[in-house]
Amino acid sequence: MAEENPHNCPRCGHTLPGDARICLECGVDLALFAMLADKAYLDGVSVPSTSVPSPEVLVPRIGQYLLQQGLLTQEKLDEALKRQAELAEQGERLLLGQTLVQMGFIDQDILDRVVTQQIIELHAALQETNRTLEERVRERTSELRHTLDRLTEISQIKANLISNISHELRTPLAHIKGYIELLAEEQLGPLSPEQGQAMDVIQRASQRLGGLIEDLIEFSTASREGLRIEMQDITLADLATDVIERSQEKAEKVGVSIHTEIESGLPPLRADPDRLSWVLFQLMDNGIKFTPSGGNVTFTAKQENKQVLISIQDTGIGIPTDRVKELFEPFHQLDASPTRRYGGTGLGLAFVKLILEAHGTVMRVESEEGEGSTFSFPLHIAHGSE
Ligand SMILES: Nc1ncnc2c1ncn2[C@@H]1O[C@H](COP(=O)(O)OP(=O)(O)OP(=O)(O)O)[C@@H](O)[C@H]1O
Ligand SMILES: [Mg+2]
Repeated sequence: MAEENPHNCPRCGHTLPGDARICLECGVDLALFAMLADKAYLDGVSVPSTSVPSPEVLVPRIGQYLLQQGLLTQEKLDEALKRQAELAEQGERLLLGQTLVQMGFIDQDILDRVVTQQIIELHAALQETNRTLEERVRERTSELRHTLDRLTEISQIKANLISNISHELRTPLAHIKGYIELLAEEQLGPLSPEQGQAMDVIQRASQRLGGLIEDLIEFSTASREGLRIEMQDITLADLATDVIERSQEKAEKVGVSIHTEIESGLPPLRADPDRLSWVLFQLMDNGIKFTPSGGNVTFTAKQENKQVLISIQDTGIGIPTDRVKELFEPFHQLDASPTRRYGGTGLGLAFVKLILEAHGTVMRVESEEGEGSTFSFPLHIAHGSE
């Protein structure tokens, strides 16, 4: 009886019933595993060119099968296995079936029949495995499709929520700003010097808040309907000077130096000046924000064939290579922990990406952790100036 001859899984060692086809513990297909083991065993032999490979090479669990069929006793099998091992030690490698025939324990006819039978079973087992595999692939594909649908739905809910909230924030903020203006202009009564200073702070904060809300609205509209841009012929040097001037105050505050290397005589570029200015400001802002005091941020622009390559390089904290692709996800910051050191909403680069796409260009990021980062992209030269 099969159950009377338990054996161990050659892979994990788990004890299995004699008729097991698949290890109940690790799931390995025993016939396949043994086939590969037998092939490796044979690969160690230099087979004479005249010898024809036996089909038994494909049928490795012959001993077990003969036992199950009652064509061999356990004692004879053990004896043959011992003999096979002895031969192997002498450098002569013989398959078990051949050893059994040689020792007179079974006839060649029986061996051939058993081999054929096992090949048929092996084939059936392979077909069964394929069927199971296909079924699993189908299940996994359906699970993945479901997860993707769910993610798309969540992303849509998030986008709608942001869009609605931003619009709702706009109205009360307009009232706040209006009254701040009246107060600051002392139209509602005189202010003490301390109150005047406090009004300045409130005014700057409300302007930042207003800017943030406008960016949120713009981003959610652009993500939904695409970005509207108005291309013009622009002079990069003028635009860059303005951006650098606006970045200067923040840089000084945190002890970061700004350097500019704009090639002289650059031709006009084709771009939306407001959008491009926004992109450059975001990149400068990031460079300054993620660079410790004493570091540098360098703005470079140089002509390369019919394009101008713009880059903003910093000597800051850098970005781990495997996380570069995350940078452009909206509302995503690499350090999202509650103790994060850097402010922001994680929207800047997502919007930058949309704007550059609308200009028909893409951002290149080169970075090394602890050394710094370079964000660069090419822009087309205006028609007629190439
Ligand atoms: N120059 C840089 N050096 C290191 N990390 C950067 C740099 N620029 C961007 N990152 C990483 O990419 C993340 C996303 O940048 P992004 O500009 O989109 O958002 P943010 O600067 O955090 O917030 P926001 O721009 O909305 O104020 C940042 O939080 C930071 O982790
Ligand atoms: Mg930013």
